[in-house]
Amino acid sequence: MLQKVAIDNVEIGMYVEQIESQHARTKMKKPGFIRRQETIDNLRNKGVLFVYVDADQITSDEDIRYHATKVGKHSSINGNDEFGSAKELVDTSKKQLSKLLTDIYENKPVDIEPVKEVSSDIVDNIFERRDAVLWISGIREKSAYLLEHSMNVAFHLVNFGRFLELDRTTLEELAIGGLVHDIGKILVRDEVLNKPGKLTDEEFLHMKEHQTLSQPVLDSMLDLPQTSKDVSLMHHEKIDGNGYPNGLKGDELTQIGRMACIVDIYDALTAERCYKPALSPSEAFKIMIGLTPFHLDPDLLKKFIRCIGFYPIGSVVELSNGRVGLVCKENPDDLMTPTVKLFYSARTEAFREVEYVDLRKRPDLKIIRGITEAKLKKSFSDFR
Ligand SMILES: [Fe+2]
Repeated sequence: MLQKVAIDNVEIGMYVEQIESQHARTKMKKPGFIRRQETIDNLRNKGVLFVYVDADQITSDEDIRYHATKVGKHSSINGNDEFGSAKELVDTSKKQLSKLLTDIYENKPVDIEPVKEVSSDIVDNIFERRDAVLWISGIREKSAYLLEHSMNVAFHLVNFGRFLELDRTTLEELAIGGLVHDIGKILVRDEVLNKPGKLTDEEFLHMKEHQTLSQPVLDSMLDLPQTSKDVSLMHHEKIDGNGYPNGLKGDELTQIGRMACIVDIYDALTAERCYKPALSPSEAFKIMIGLTPFHLDPDLLKKFIRCIGFYPIGSVVELSNGRVGLVCKENPDDLMTPTVKLFYSARTEAFREVEYVDLRKRPDLKIIRGITEAKLKKSFSDFR
């Protein structure tokens, strides 16, 4: 039987069938369990006054854990709409971006409108289902680095911009900037762009040209906001003036440009490439701290580290009992005690039955380090 519940009395675990909003246009996509406080906040922000709850349906962390363990290693903790919607967003972003890259490569006129729409969706999704977006966007296809990197830079920039409380328009412009920031790479020679080994000096110079090559492409995009252009044109600049393409120095490098430098390096360091293994977020942060203050902005980097957290969604961690797994849900009150999906033992070097552990409820266990699949010489792609 359905019960009408005022939005202020809605609780995590309720199964919402319908909503009643002060705005006629606000509609519910699908009935489902409320699993996070953010969902309730979102409903309230959208003007929802009441929800209709099916009181016969209840859920708890244990239910989720049981369900997820039962369906096996390919399952994720959130077998709900959130992940479906995030996956759709990631797929659409990739499709639009790939079309844009092909148009540029084929010298066709570039239509930025679909990219703008995707960027608006990215911002919506970071607000509505941040965890799901970050988890799914972290699953990379090795063959499509440029696509994956551009998309991840867009997601990270919006996430970081949200943390810095930038306004909605700027967040959308950041997303566009992230998507197009390396656009000139499409014009770099294939054998250089995809070279598995170290680049020669000549090849490195050609690779650096992607920034000069980007400029006319960006100029040809009508209505491309300045913020988006800055993301692209400044992401290889350095505060001491030793970056490229324009050798900008100090204040010439805007906050947007400084954010782009940080996010671009972070994504590159944490990605696996044919010539280098992926670093864990904490290893990447250590290297990045070493790049301050001459290359990166130290204050902004500190904020970025706080925004991402040492154990972000999708990262690999080892617990004090030797079990290894993936962080799948952050605890907003304490970033050191997320929910983890465990499936490997570092002690026996063997895979184990999948188990979800909420570290908030297990004071006997703690994360002893962030680690990578490369270090463990294992692949966990089946578990993502
Ligand atoms: Fe670049």
